[in-house]
Amino acid sequence: MKILFLDQSGKPGGAELCLIDIAKPYGDRALVGLFADGAFKVLLQQHQIPVEVLATQPIQVKKQSNLFQALASLKQLAPLLFKVIKIAKKYDLIYANTQKALVIGAVASFLTRRPLVYHLHDILSSEHFSQTNLRVAVTLANFFASLVIVNSLASQKAFVQAGGKSELTAIVYNGFESKNYQIPDAEIKQIRQDLGLEDKLVVGHFSRLAPWKGQHILIEALAQCPPQVTAILVGDALFGEQDYVQKLHQQVAELRLENRVKFLGFRSDIPQLMSACNLVTHTSTAPEPFGRVIVEAMLCGTPVIAAKAGGAMELVEHGVNGFLTTPGEPQELAKVINSCFQEIEITATIADHARNIASQRFDVAIINQQIAQLLDSRFTNK
Ligand code: UDP
Ligand code: GLC
Repeated sequence: MKILFLDQSGKPGGAELCLIDIAKPYGDRALVGLFADGAFKVLLQQHQIPVEVLATQPIQVKKQSNLFQALASLKQLAPLLFKVIKIAKKYDLIYANTQKALVIGAVASFLTRRPLVYHLHDILSSEHFSQTNLRVAVTLANFFASLVIVNSLASQKAFVQAGGKSELTAIVYNGFESKNYQIPDAEIKQIRQDLGLEDKLVVGHFSRLAPWKGQHILIEALAQCPPQVTAILVGDALFGEQDYVQKLHQQVAELRLENRVKFLGFRSDIPQLMSACNLVTHTSTAPEPFGRVIVEAMLCGTPVIAAKAGGAMELVEHGVNGFLTTPGEPQELAKVINSCFQEIEITATIADHARNIASQRFDVAIINQQIAQLLDSRFTNK
């Protein structure tokens, strides 16, 4: 089966990193069409995945756009649409990985009579999207998609609640290559040394810098932890959240935590950095659709504390393979961080258990098989 994958982003967010793993097994039988140039294209090339940037200018519709703004962008979409239609004729299936890809993919699917798969990586609720964007996504998925792959039960529930047809959906979690997360002790020691963290208790946060990812919650919690507890914030403002970045720096200064918070920016050595942490925290203030960083921390054998909402609740069972805290509650987070550092043995047992379960449950080979079976069973003879 030849697949045309479509993704609107030039930047490597979680949905894009997930797409790398999905497209890879298809080799030359796949093409990833992007609506923006950037680091994601380079990553795809490094993985030998055929990629083409299809849009010549960025698409202006935002997650909170109203109907008027959405309609105004249609004119701008025409050249992109023509390109996609031309390419889609050479493929058996269109696989839309993001919402704008769904819009273009739906029209192209209709006009070329190629089936459409929508991989939904988002919780379609008003906490994340404008009413217009919600309605557009659900309506297009209902009318044009033959299959909606959802990244968690939480994303599925929100889709159905927003009016999506449940019979279209299939839950497929993100897959991971567990051996990429096994880092030798010497390498871990070196990283801690390079970052000047040898004698610290290091709490890591690995997300793009965005208000709903809640880095401010960790900073506030840190102020309630003993002085040897230090945080590293790994990630950048991928989608223009510069105000938030400024606020975070201001918060650190106001709390006099300059020596205990390190902003490392976007990094490609996530397994190494996560392994160098004593604890990883996930602090999203709105429900996380899936939460790749939670699974990645587990695969590194680093204990993880996640915000109790959305997909994170499908990944973490409190006290069994990690810890859950109420979203947006820094005091509670501080309490759990402190107890993890006090009860070292229990915490280590939980992290070990998490690593074992995660390496089986999210094995990329099994996840890819699930996707292949879904596609084969619905779109046979291709
Ligand atoms: N990530 C990365 N470099 C960074 C920060 C994050 O490669 O500096 C990766 C991280 O390891 C994870 C992904 O970005 O695989 C983020 O995915 P997640 O599902 O946690 O959140 P999203 O940003 O997609 O909402
Ligand atoms: C999205 C979601 C994130 C999820 C990722 C991969 O970017 O925000 O929670 O882990 O997609 O499915």
